[in-house]
Amino acid sequence: EKDIESKLPLKGKKVLVTAGPTFEAIDPVRFIGNHSSGKMGFDIAAAAANLGAEVVLVSGPTHLQTKNPSIHLVKVTSAEEMYTACHLYFNDVDVAIAAAAVADYKPKNVASQKIKKNDTTFSIELEKTKDILASLGQIKKNQFLIGFALETENEIEHAKLKIQKKNLDLIVLNSLNDTGAGFGKPTNKVTFIDKDFKIEPQELKSKEEVAIDIVNKIISHYA
Ligand code: CTP
Ligand code: CA
Repeated sequence: EKDIESKLPLKGKKVLVTAGPTFEAIDPVRFIGNHSSGKMGFDIAAAAANLGAEVVLVSGPTHLQTKNPSIHLVKVTSAEEMYTACHLYFNDVDVAIAAAAVADYKPKNVASQKIKKNDTTFSIELEKTKDILASLGQIKKNQFLIGFALETENEIEHAKLKIQKKNLDLIVLNSLNDTGAGFGKPTNKVTFIDKDFKIEPQELKSKEEVAIDIVNKIISHYA
């Protein structure tokens, strides 16, 4: 019994992970999206499941798959769908990790027919999507809430503001400055900042290793 506990430190814990991009429809054949592969979120889900957690992985469109029976994959398309799915599971989980690259804006109106080309210029009015992570921060009880921050300037300051604005316990700051890190790459250069603003820069690592580091933060929290 003790042996199983030490090998599976997250046994009995439920973990919600968001992953991938979101696609925001413009018309029946077009959308606004981004280059997120979903790999970071899928790697976090696998790392948590491998240590005994029961994982709900809410993912936007990606080609990635998971065969792990401890990972329940919920496929969504838009930010609105991701918001609804996350709120369906959040009350029941111990930990939530928002690794998705959620669209910040979506078309205010979605055309019901394919938009025909016409003038030389064309614009689409956009409106803000719901901030999923901030909404979870507002309703959280005992959940350990982890967010990501993608910044290109004043990284630490901006990440600290996100901790406060979204009521996070930990933020994983993603640096795009260092070559070989980020979107479409197998590696990430991250810095952990906790809610007391303790800053821990990490080496450039594979996303699998970053995922293990994040899961170790969760284990330390419960230790
Ligand atoms: N996030 C979210 N819902 C959104 C936007 C972001 O859940 N509508 C989450 C992301 O999954 C990430 C964190 O919030 O964990 C920070 O995302 P980021 O894009 O870095 O920050 P934003 O709050 O969107 O601010 P900005 O893009 O202006 O820096
Ligand atoms: Ca954003």
